[in-house]
Amino acid sequence: MDLAPPSTSVQADELIVLGLESSCDESAAAILRRRSDGSIEVLADLVLGQIDAHAPYGGVVPEIAARAHAEAMDGLAAAALKEAGLALDEIDAVAATSGPGLIGGVMAALMTAKGLALGSGKPLIAVNHLEGHALSPRLSETLDFPYLLLLVSGGHTQLLVAEAAGRYRRLGSTLDDAAGEAFDKTAKVLGLGFPGGPALERCAQNGDAARFDLPTPLKGKPGCDFSFAGLKTAARQIWEGLDQPGEQDRADLAAAVQAAIAASLAARTRRAMDLFAADYPDCATPRPLVVAGGVAANTAVRTALEAAAAKAGFRLIAPPMKWCTDNAAMIALAGLEKLARGETDALDAPARARWPLDAASAKLDPAIGSGRKGPKA
Ligand code: KG4
Ligand code: ZN
Repeated sequence: MDLAPPSTSVQADELIVLGLESSCDESAAAILRRRSDGSIEVLADLVLGQIDAHAPYGGVVPEIAARAHAEAMDGLAAAALKEAGLALDEIDAVAATSGPGLIGGVMAALMTAKGLALGSGKPLIAVNHLEGHALSPRLSETLDFPYLLLLVSGGHTQLLVAEAAGRYRRLGSTLDDAAGEAFDKTAKVLGLGFPGGPALERCAQNGDAARFDLPTPLKGKPGCDFSFAGLKTAARQIWEGLDQPGEQDRADLAAAVQAAIAASLAARTRRAMDLFAADYPDCATPRPLVVAGGVAANTAVRTALEAAAAKAGFRLIAPPMKWCTDNAAMIALAGLEKLARGETDALDAPARARWPLDAASAKLDPAIGSGRKGPKA
C-alpha cells in the first residue's frame, strides 16, 4: 500500500476540511470552508462530551475515554457531513488531532481520519492539538499575527507567541501541573465533584480569599514558566489540618486557591507581555493577548488577566467558550492552514502522546519534548 500523501490542489479557490478531535474527553467533528478571500465558514461543529462517564471516578479515566471516542468518531464524522450537506468526496482533506494527548483517545480520531482519507483518496492532515488552540481565536475574529497566547486547560498551561500559522515560539510552560489540573485536584480534595474547575468557582463565590495564606508559585523567579503543584499540596494540607471543616471553610479555601491561581497566571503572563512588547515594538497597541482553554471560563482568572493586560498595553481576547474548550473546529482550521501551505501527511502518521508545538523544543527532542517540561509540552 502507498502511504505517501496524495498530491494536493492547494491553489483551489476554496478549501473544505473535515476535522476530528479526541485527545482528551471530548469527541468532536467539524467541517470548515475557507473562501478564496481567506474568510472562514463553519459548516458543521459537533462535540460529544463524556462528563457522565468519568464523573464516578472524579477525573478522566484514559481507558474509558479511549473506548467512548472509538465508539463515537464514525458517527460524528457522518453527522458532520450530513449537517454540512456534503458528501465525503466534496471534502478537500481530512484533518485529525494526532497529539499531544491521551494516546488511546488520540488514536480514535486519527484512525478514523486515516480510514476516511484512504477510502476517499483525500489527503490526511495530522494536526497538533496545541496548534488548534493557538489558532482558535481566528475562528471568531480577524486577528493578525503575531499575537501572545496563554493556553490554560486541564492538560496544558503555556505561553506562546503565534508568529504565523505553523510558526510558534514558546515563552513558558508549567513545570508540573496544568492550571486546570490544580483546580480539578483541589476541587476533589474539597469534595466538590467533577469537573472540578466550575464547581470550585461556584463554591468560591461565598468564600473569603484572604483567610488562608497560600504560597505564590515561582514568586520573583525570572522567565515565564508556571508551577501549580506546590499550591495544590498547600491547599490539601490546610484542608486536612482543619478540625471538622464546614461549608464556610470549604468556600474560603476554594476562594483562596482560585485567587492564587489567577494571580499566578496574571503575574507570569505579565512577564510574557513585556517580552512580547520588546520583541515586537511595531505591533500596534493595544497588543493582542489571547486566552484559550477551559480555565479561560473562570471569571477570577479573566479579571486578573484583563487587569494585567490593561496595565501592559494589551487587549485580552477570549474566543467564545465553545471554541475555548476542546473542539474540532479549531482542528479543521489548523488543517486548512496546513493544506493551504501544501503540507499533508502520510497515512502512517503516528499518534503522539507528546508533541511540542514550538520548533525549538521539537528539534531538541521531536518525540517527547525536552527535560522537565516534556510531559506537559
Ligand atoms: O480545554 P478543556 O475543556 O480541556 C482540556 O483540558 O484540554 O479544559 C478543561 C479544564 C478542566 O481542568 C476544568 O476544570 C477547567 O478547564 N475549567 C475551569 C472552569 N471551567 C473549566 N477551571 C476553573 N474555572 C472554571 N469555570
Ligand atoms: Zn485542549
